[in-house]
Amino acid sequence: MKIGVIGAGSISDGHFQSYYNNEQTEVFAVCDLNEARAKEKAAKYGASHVYTDYHELLANQEIEAVSICTWNNTHAEISIAALQAGKHVLVEKPLCKTVEEALAVEQAVQDSGKILQVGFVRRYAANTEILKRFIDNGDLGNIYYAKASCLRRLGNPGGWFSDKERSGGGPLIDLGVHIIDICWYLMGKPKVKSIRGNTYHQLGNRSNVENLDFYKAADYDPDKNTVEDMANALITFENGASIMVDVSFTLHAKEDKIAVNLYGEKGGAELEPSLEIITEKYNTMLNATPQTNYHTFNFEQGFQNEIDYFIDSVNGVKETRSPVADGVEMMKILCGIYESSEKGIEIQF
Ligand SMILES: NC(=O)c1ccc[n+]([C@@H]2O[C@H](COP(=O)([O-])OP(=O)(O)OC[C@H]3O[C@@H](n4cnc5c(N)ncnc54)[C@H](O)[C@@H]3O)[C@@H](O)[C@H]2O)c1
Repeated sequence: MKIGVIGAGSISDGHFQSYYNNEQTEVFAVCDLNEARAKEKAAKYGASHVYTDYHELLANQEIEAVSICTWNNTHAEISIAALQAGKHVLVEKPLCKTVEEALAVEQAVQDSGKILQVGFVRRYAANTEILKRFIDNGDLGNIYYAKASCLRRLGNPGGWFSDKERSGGGPLIDLGVHIIDICWYLMGKPKVKSIRGNTYHQLGNRSNVENLDFYKAADYDPDKNTVEDMANALITFENGASIMVDVSFTLHAKEDKIAVNLYGEKGGAELEPSLEIITEKYNTMLNATPQTNYHTFNFEQGFQNEIDYFIDSVNGVKETRSPVADGVEMMKILCGIYESSEKGIEIQF
């Protein structure tokens, strides 16, 4: 199967390498606004076609499926064009910037009959798969609460990430999307009922900090920053369950931290920073540590499994684990948090 990758920046390597490793796929075409970047990736992964206009890539009849790894503000437009051109689509998270865009993408999926997989890569991580098996077999019972945190003290990557126009927001849409989604997925995708969120623009990008390195986008600009630096929210579902979440690009925190915890009637679990299953047996509390090479999210394993799953879905062997409908629900939640913060009220669904 011939593959085109649109957007040849940082995350595209996770896609290129996984297609390269998959025996059923050929990295065939690359497109980026930056021609030198596209050419470099094409040379590295053996792609024979290079484009700077994604419309031209989509017009190539030999290409069956595409990965979209561009800025968030282009995800909806490129996804719809790709589906209309008859391609299957793997689009990076977040699905897009707004609920309206998400619904338009969902309509295009229905009209085209093609597969669209949203890049919720943590659903494909080995530690998630292990935990899901315990949950599906009832070991946690009904999960009524989840708490997720992804706090960076100095981690605004700058560039398009800190330009609200292109990103749709800061740590909430960039990091929050992963940890809210993974809780929601493991809780059985309950229907959202209400959201109360807060966003803060208190510290900016802390580009003044000396003596500490942090990841910077290629086009880092210390003066340009229009996104929130911190967000938190309480998301409540129709079945009474709730998720509490907090995320930051910058914060006066002692250290960076990721934590994803789930609490059920029969047991609990920590997915991050390291997989643990907590239960009670014979009047004794029991913390069980699954023995695995992947106790935390592993980039290579997660992306390989995500892309193998996408190809199996295109071939009709499996059903995608992260369909467009889930991308739509996640956009409702993320936009609900931003709206709640702007209006200072709880949003009801
Ligand atoms: N799954 C994950 O864990 C993960 C991690 C990082 C980023 N991402 C997502 O991947 C996407 C890209 O992020 P990145 O870190 O690679 O950013 P990046 O800035 O490194 O790369 C983006 C590339 O897209 C190109 N581009 C933008 N608009 C384009 C267009 N219309 N046509 C062709 N090329 C275009 C840019 O020139 C750039 O080279 C974002 O949506 C981001 O949220 C996902």
